[in-house]
Amino acid sequence: MVQTDTGKQPPVILLHGYPFDRSMWSEQIDFLNAHGYRAVAPDLLGPNETVTLIDASQTISTMTEMAGGVAASMDDLKIDEAVICGLSMGGYVAFEFMHLFPERVRALILAGTRAPADNELEKQGRSEQVEQMLAEGIRGIAEGSLRKLLSRRTLAEKPEVVARLREMILRADPQGAAAAQRGMATRRDYTAGLATIDVPTLVIVGREDPIRPIADAEFMHERIRGSSLEIVEDAAHMTNMEQPEEFNLALLNFLKVLH
Ligand code: MLT
Repeated sequence: MVQTDTGKQPPVILLHGYPFDRSMWSEQIDFLNAHGYRAVAPDLLGPNETVTLIDASQTISTMTEMAGGVAASMDDLKIDEAVICGLSMGGYVAFEFMHLFPERVRALILAGTRAPADNELEKQGRSEQVEQMLAEGIRGIAEGSLRKLLSRRTLAEKPEVVARLREMILRADPQGAAAAQRGMATRRDYTAGLATIDVPTLVIVGREDPIRPIADAEFMHERIRGSSLEIVEDAAHMTNMEQPEEFNLALLNFLKVLH
C-alpha cells in the first residue's frame, strides 16, 4: 500500500476523499508530527506508483476492501489501535472500519461525510459519472467538481488551494476512481450503528458544503453519544485544505483529551 507514515504514537490514520489521494492531508501530517503524533495516510484509489491498496483491474472497490486494506497496513506497521479520521469517502471507510474492527478504533473523526447509504437517484448519479469519466477521462469531471468541493471564498481567494486540488483530481486514475464510485454506491447504511459507537467522536463539516451539508453532520452528531460537532466557516467539502488552521486546532483539541 502506498502511504505516508510519520511521527510518534498515538497514531492517527487519515483517510482521503474521492477522487483524491493522501496528499490532501499534508497540512495535517505536518501539524500532527509537530505535536508529537504519528500520522498514517494511505492511498485508497489505485493504481498509483508501485503498490496499491486496490487492484485497478477490479471493477469495484468496496468500502469493505478499503477498510480491510487499512487494517492490513496497521498490521504491517504494528499498530493495534488508532484514531481513524476520514473525510467524505474516507468517512465511509472509517464507518466500515468501525463496523469490522471496533476494537482497533481509539477514536473517530468524521469530516464531510454521512451515515445513510445512497438512494437510487444517488446511485444513478454515480453510474453516470463513471460513464463520463471512462469516456472523457478524469478531466471531464474536474472543473464541475471543484465548484462544489470548495467554498466561494476559497475559489475567489485561495488560488493555490484550487490549483492543488485540481492537480490532485487530474492525477487520479479513471479506472480506480470508477471502481471507488461503484464501491460507494454499494456501501452499507451505517445509520443503525451510530447509536452503538462508543469511542470519542468528532464530527466536522464545512458551513457551505453542498455535497455533505450540515444536516448530515447534525444527523451523526445527534446519534453518536457524547460526540462533538465542529462547523468550519468559509469552507465547503474540503475543510482540511480550505481552512487547515481551524481544522488542525479542532483535531488537536480532540486528540488532547484522549489521554
Ligand atoms: C468524496 O469527497 O469522497 C465524495 O464526494 C463522497 C461521495 O461521493 O459520496
